[in-house]
Amino acid sequence: MSDPLVAMRGITKHFPGVLALDEVDFTLMPGEVHALMGENGAGKSTLVKVLTGAEAFESGTTYLGDSQVPFISHSPQEAQAHGISTVYQEVNLCPNLTVAENLFTGRQPRRFGFVNWREMNRRSRQIMAGIGVDIDVEKPLEVYSIAIQQMVAIGRAIDISAKVLILDEPTSSLNEQEVATLFDLIRKLRGQGMGIIFITHFLEQVYEVCDKITVLRNGKLVGEYEIEGLPRKDLVAAMLGRAFDDLASIHRHEESVDKTGVPVVSAHELGVTGGVKPFDLDVYPGEVVGLAGLLGSGRTEVARAIYGADTPNTGTLQVKGKRAGHAPITSMKQGMAFCPESRKDEGCIQDLSVRENIVLAEQTKRGAFRLMSRAEQEKIADAYIEMLQIKTASMETPIKQLSGGNQQKVILARWLATHPDFLILDEPTRGIDVGTKAEIQRLCVELAGSGMSILFISSEIEEMLRTCNRLGIMRDLKKVGEVEGDEMTSSTIMSRIAGGDEDE
Ligand SMILES: Nc1ncnc2c1ncn2[C@@H]1O[C@H](COP(=O)(O)OP(=O)(O)OP(=O)(O)O)[C@@H](O)[C@H]1O
Ligand SMILES: [Mg+2]
Repeated sequence: MSDPLVAMRGITKHFPGVLALDEVDFTLMPGEVHALMGENGAGKSTLVKVLTGAEAFESGTTYLGDSQVPFISHSPQEAQAHGISTVYQEVNLCPNLTVAENLFTGRQPRRFGFVNWREMNRRSRQIMAGIGVDIDVEKPLEVYSIAIQQMVAIGRAIDISAKVLILDEPTSSLNEQEVATLFDLIRKLRGQGMGIIFITHFLEQVYEVCDKITVLRNGKLVGEYEIEGLPRKDLVAAMLGRAFDDLASIHRHEESVDKTGVPVVSAHELGVTGGVKPFDLDVYPGEVVGLAGLLGSGRTEVARAIYGADTPNTGTLQVKGKRAGHAPITSMKQGMAFCPESRKDEGCIQDLSVRENIVLAEQTKRGAFRLMSRAEQEKIADAYIEMLQIKTASMETPIKQLSGGNQQKVILARWLATHPDFLILDEPTRGIDVGTKAEIQRLCVELAGSGMSILFISSEIEEMLRTCNRLGIMRDLKKVGEVEGDEMTSSTIMSRIAGGDEDE
């Protein structure tokens, strides 16, 4: 039996009002891919931040390798010097520098005091080739997809140190092919004896690539399991603390759809120059319409054109039979809401409290002359914190102190609080744990049942099959068709997304 790469014992960490880690133990062995699982706010990110020194902690001890001397890192740089590298979901690189410069920031090879560009570029090509990515390292990072940027971050991490690699939700913005490439790389690194800590909310990915699972719940260790010994339903039960069948069908209702009157939204030949090609789309009251397609196929662009976030240059759009305004503020006043996919860029205002973030859209809609009373704000915030099970010390906590998934829930609450007739949800369950994921799907179906129309964008076909009455298929910025009724099966949808069939 070899020595562990990392042994954390009795780690305890408080944040104001929260016990984030309560005497947690964690062990990482060489050559193992170890999943860290738990609900939003369970303490996963905090545990790895304690390990790397990104967060201080109160008690407990960490050992590295066969050392009997406690290891305390004061900064991620220090951890890196000890062979521990982290790649976060939001890539922390400089988009306008070249790939090579990003790989070697702060450690450029020098010759006679000057940066040795040739050497740097040569070694960069080697690093990227070594992880199976064939790109021009002299191009700026920003010309490449998020997936490639993530690979560059990993390339840098493993070139600096090659013992422990921490991946905190690395796959949430990758498509299937890119995930496969990343997993090949993970397996290769495991083969070289590296230990990999993998955090994700995609359960299938855990079963595909991991060897071991450590489950946290409310800051406490639930247990450490071999992957073979923990079937999916037991994993979900360990995470949630109760039996729960996350795959139990949530039934979309057909009876709520009212196609007798005017559609809530009716787009005809609506298009944006250089963006989404002209498309037709009608959504009726009580209907959930999904948009399926690969990343970059134009799903979000359809939503943006309808909402007026991008200004359409062609076609017409009617909202409840009236001409639409083509600007977010008028769309909002006409009863639309758009819950965006990227909470970092467009979503939450980091320094505002949970309460302020929740009421923001409703307040904007009412305008500056109809300010909501504090009591009303609190009532709304309270209701949504309860409804979406938002884990926060209080409604006055700044949103930046919430875990990633809980921030996502606050943004969803913000748009639900406007009581829209037409709600656009772009990847609403990304980064959300299994229990809440099912709750959000159930909520969509319920809202549709009470007459709301929803445009639902998701990379998970299963999730759309459970919630949507009809699906638009997107490919290369074009809406290439729709499927409904008996055609709504994952194999049909997959093949339509991939293309190669007769198009209309
Ligand atoms: N900087 C901070 N200030 C205050 N509280 C924090 C801070 N960071 C995290 N917390 C709290 O600590 C707890 C654990 O958060 P953590 O980010 O570790 O959760 P997580 O398991 O990574 O969740 P997710 O799946 O949503 O990413 C949460 O209750 C969170 O609100
Ligand atoms: Mg996290």
